[in-house]
Amino acid sequence: MPNRFTGKTVLVTGSAGGLGRAHALAFAGEGARLILADINEAGLAESKALIEALGSSASVHHVDMGQEADIATFASAVLATHDRIDVLINNAGLHAGEIARGFFGLGLAKWQHFFAVNTFGPMLLAEALRPALARAKGVIINKCSMASYNPATAYGITKASLNIFTHAMAQQFGADEIRCVGIAPGLMETEAALQGVDPANWERLKAMQSVKRQGTAQDISNLALFLASDEGSFVNNQVILCDGGNQMRGFRF
Ligand SMILES: NC(=O)c1ccc[n+]([C@@H]2O[C@H](COP(=O)([O-])OP(=O)(O)OC[C@H]3O[C@@H](n4cnc5c(N)ncnc54)[C@H](O)[C@@H]3O)[C@@H](O)[C@H]2O)c1
Repeated sequence: MPNRFTGKTVLVTGSAGGLGRAHALAFAGEGARLILADINEAGLAESKALIEALGSSASVHHVDMGQEADIATFASAVLATHDRIDVLINNAGLHAGEIARGFFGLGLAKWQHFFAVNTFGPMLLAEALRPALARAKGVIINKCSMASYNPATAYGITKASLNIFTHAMAQQFGADEIRCVGIAPGLMETEAALQGVDPANWERLKAMQSVKRQGTAQDISNLALFLASDEGSFVNNQVILCDGGNQMRGFRF
């Protein structure tokens, strides 16, 4: 296995499980030291143990990405102990329940919460960590979604807005040679996604893809590794769809 991230520091939000944990393990497997943030402390402890079993290290932090004060406290702690952040993966996100069921009748407080976690939190964290990202000439990877291209749900709308932020951030952070890209996964076989979609729907979705298998967390980790690596260093200001071809077949939630 290549060791493209030896000596590098990678911060992953939403890394108590699912895609975030998979990404953290993928980078640890290539030599990175990790900073993990989530609201799920038990899941964070499990992720840390898995990373240490790979021979790497991780610090864990309870951070609510929907709370500005939490983000500020976390960023200060990170900046106090890390001169450089090479990769920031803004992965934490709300995607299940009401946020994924249309968008009427939510009320302003729910809209604000959904946008705070999925859209503003990633931007605020990147802004707060900018000095350490700049010293590393680092990369920000925003976790967007296939749902952003056809946004018929509050979820899709928050992620479509994150696409826009990705472009805005690439422009603004580019002054410090920090790249900003987005990854828009299709429906990936994570525990959370499996719980949210009934088995018949999984089969319908798979049938719509031109790549006839379900997407996995490893598919998204592979793309994150490439985008963060020297091989991906000329890719900037792009949101890259990784969905096995679902979108071109007119996928609808
Ligand atoms: N799995 C998919 O098919 C898929 C597809 C497209 C996009 N995504 C996006 O990828 C990301 C990860 O998805 P997943 O499938 O691994 O889901 P997941 O639910 O397993 O992981 C999300 C993580 O974010 C954490 N989180 C939630 N709210 C938080 C908050 N306020 N502050 C900090 N952490 C918080 C959760 O505790 C959890 O560990 C999300 O942004 C999701 O929208 C997933």
